[in-house]
Amino acid sequence: MDRNFALELVRVTEAAAIASARLMGRGDEKAADQAAVDAMRKALNDIDIDGTVVIGEGERDEAPMLFIGERVGKGDSCPKIDIALDPLEGTTICARGGTNALSVIAIAEENGFLHAPDTYMQKIAVGPVGRGMIDIRESPTTNLKEMAKAKKCSVSDLTVVILDRPRHHDIIQEVRSAGARIMLITDGDVSAAISTCHPRSGVDMLLGIGGAPEGVLAAAALQCMGGDIQGILKPRNDEEIERAKKMGMRDIRRVLTIDDLSHGRVMFCATGVTDGTLLNGVRFLGDGAITHSIVMRSETGTVREITARHNFTKKRGL
Ligand code: FBP
Repeated sequence: MDRNFALELVRVTEAAAIASARLMGRGDEKAADQAAVDAMRKALNDIDIDGTVVIGEGERDEAPMLFIGERVGKGDSCPKIDIALDPLEGTTICARGGTNALSVIAIAEENGFLHAPDTYMQKIAVGPVGRGMIDIRESPTTNLKEMAKAKKCSVSDLTVVILDRPRHHDIIQEVRSAGARIMLITDGDVSAAISTCHPRSGVDMLLGIGGAPEGVLAAAALQCMGGDIQGILKPRNDEEIERAKKMGMRDIRRVLTIDDLSHGRVMFCATGVTDGTLLNGVRFLGDGAITHSIVMRSETGTVREITARHNFTKKRGL
């Protein structure tokens, strides 16, 4: 994969982030998401790729744009690329003006991403120090002890991010009993998973159940940064089980490793929509905007942070 795709990807997430950030705090999740989708699709179609959306906005019948299977990019004579994307990860965050909303995209060679159905996934994610030390089949306590051993610290020095949901009552209780610190978040577990790889975030582990597509996006980022993630699908009903089977998953209960979720040469890019642990949100300047993005490649492990100053008087349409 041409390494210059990385820079092309930044343009895509920057456009989606600027479009959705204009609607920050307006209380309209749909409008914010739609703005991000429109901008991302427009920007993607300017790139020299023959791309197929593998993780997208949903099935064709429920999402008119960036649906699973949609072809994007300039097309036929260009390199074939699989795409996982979430134009606005954290729609509620953006609508409420909260923290950690991102615009996200990842690309891989064909079949590099798990074709994950739009259902839930139980997840555990850690940074490079914990790679190979986690086992999702074990209890949070055991995983925390292993992580503490790897980090040469005590469990009470570890910080775990968990989505603040009633379904996580037991996990939260267990992590508290084990003595670790907890950061409860309202939304946005992709940002939380990536934070485990970022020393300045102070986050050591992500635990709990979130979206399965978000699990694939997080795996792409963690492949680049040297972290680790495991998942188990948690379908809510028979329809979701059927959908998972249709998408090629034979054993629904199987532990999905980071390589099952995302493998081969992968690139990942995210731009902050609202301020967060990882990235600053979009700043509007009147005649322009400043964006803050992170872009990385699994092949080299290079992680670039890009601050861009966009000039609306020269670059119309942003
Ligand atoms: P959206 O951007 O689609 O709203 O997803 C936000 C999110 O918090 C994800 O980060 C997370 O994986 C999922 O929703 C959790 O789902 P739920 O809100 O149903 O618990």
